[in-house]
Amino acid sequence: MEKLLDWISKEMMNAFEAAGYARELGKVSPSNRPDLCEYQCNGAMAGAKQYHKAPIMIANDVAAKLADSSVFEKAEAVAPGFLNLTLKNEFVGDYIKGMRAEEKYGLEEPKNPVKIVIDYGGPNIAKPLHVGHLRPAIIGESVKRIARYAGHDIIGDIHLGDWGQPMGLVINELKVRKPELVYFDESYTGEYPKEAPFTISELEEIYPYASKRSKEDAQYKAAAMECTFKLQNGVRGYRALWDHIIAISVVDLKKNYEKLNVEFDLWNGESTVHDLIPKMVAYMKEGGYAHISEGALVVDVKEETDTKEMPPCMILKSDGAALYNTTDLATIMMRMDVEKPDRLIYVVDKRQELYFEQVFRCARKTKLVNGDTQLKFLGFGTMNGKDGKPFKTRDGGVMRLENLIKEINDEMLKKITENRGVEDEEARQTAQVVGLAALKYGDLSNQASKDYIFDIDRFTSFEGDTGPYILYTIVRIKSILAKYQENGGNLETVRPNIKAPVSDSEKQLMLALAKYNASIEAAYEETAPYKICAYIYDLANAFNHFYHETKIIGEEDEAKKAGWIALLMLTRDVLETAIDLLGFSAPERM
Ligand code: ARG
Repeated sequence: MEKLLDWISKEMMNAFEAAGYARELGKVSPSNRPDLCEYQCNGAMAGAKQYHKAPIMIANDVAAKLADSSVFEKAEAVAPGFLNLTLKNEFVGDYIKGMRAEEKYGLEEPKNPVKIVIDYGGPNIAKPLHVGHLRPAIIGESVKRIARYAGHDIIGDIHLGDWGQPMGLVINELKVRKPELVYFDESYTGEYPKEAPFTISELEEIYPYASKRSKEDAQYKAAAMECTFKLQNGVRGYRALWDHIIAISVVDLKKNYEKLNVEFDLWNGESTVHDLIPKMVAYMKEGGYAHISEGALVVDVKEETDTKEMPPCMILKSDGAALYNTTDLATIMMRMDVEKPDRLIYVVDKRQELYFEQVFRCARKTKLVNGDTQLKFLGFGTMNGKDGKPFKTRDGGVMRLENLIKEINDEMLKKITENRGVEDEEARQTAQVVGLAALKYGDLSNQASKDYIFDIDRFTSFEGDTGPYILYTIVRIKSILAKYQENGGNLETVRPNIKAPVSDSEKQLMLALAKYNASIEAAYEETAPYKICAYIYDLANAFNHFYHETKIIGEEDEAKKAGWIALLMLTRDVLETAIDLLGFSAPERM
């Protein structure tokens, strides 16, 4: 379905043309003065020079051509030469009726669907998830859902940090604690036990301990590096132990991501490409892309136009060890071979921007990707506390994600119980649903690249630009619809009955709804979930305004009431579809 703004621009362009002026001048934009008109066109001002005419004369000519327009109720030329536009109610009603009839409410299927791999989440094995993992999960999940809904072929890959130094630290500490384990007997040739010799809580305790100790104790650190080396070189027992570490961690990660309503199609990690590294290194050497610099193997990625420092991309360290770069490049090579994407999107902390610039340049230069493969870095900012510094626990530690979620759910439960006067199982479940919306909306309503302040009071508020406010609006609509049914109304039969608006607030609600396809398209094209937040916030406001001005259930004219019920159903469906794209859902009541 054509976007509303395009539709009305076309009507305006036709008028410019009919009056003898260039079509391009007829571009329409939303009004700067919503008190005077709904839309405006400044084309007459722009055309004055070209036609050697006062803008108001051009505007008058165009307005005359629009006297019997089926789109504009009013097209008014005002000094010095603006065209102030008000849409016809019938036109708006028809547009919304058209939206209702379409599966995706007027969003068109893409002409050229593309295949996209989204790399997001990026947790590190054996370390508990902390608040730093919240943003890549929330943003990546939403970007994935938006692109998929927009009609593209999407693969979300978690890209686990499962292969580096932390693995060696954990294995070494296990060796210190339980040297008798069969995994450390390098002469052992039998099968290893199916059961892991540790639990997830042990793992989570081991990593920080080992990490701290390795910083203080050089000998301990050397032993851990030796373990990493053995693991990466395929020593059987170390691999078997590592398999346990991965299996146990993945079960726990899945549980945690599930709570966040985050789902990955692929659970690949840095280790997945380990065996591809020699092949990639050979390819880079043979192609003449890589050379030795101070013992290390590097690819130069500097370009003449660079104004900032652009260090070479290191492929192998002087001791021959692979780095974070190496696994990322090998992963690109694998993805191009297996998934063959048109586009790769990385949702990673914006502090890694320069790093990804190097990796992308290197991938292009070495032709790991095709000339037209798009590489996109979507860098996100930091979640700060109220003091403006990265969010910490009360005693200054790194906050575990579970605890953060619990804090927000507890606050939500408090507010919901205050509203209802009872705390029961249903209230607890509702608090989780609304808590997730509070958390995700609080994040996604900001431009991803910006830092934002985690403000639990604001995020959980039922008023303002918040998740709970959006859900509250949906629940309100659901309760009106339920009442309509209780009174004998049939929702299915009234569903298509949308009519031309009869009040200004109803028309404003429709105009807010009509921006659906344009907003989703922009959110997809700009990888910007915040655009969907802005859309639903406006829509929720427009709905609540209409609701306060209109006695819906009390309306005696049944046909009129049915039209409103149909409009409410569409509003509910659009809001629910949009929040699903953000990765949360609405309860039945709050
Ligand atoms: N595990 C990494 C970290 O903790 C993030 C991974 C980001 N993705 C990637 N392809 N490098 O910093």
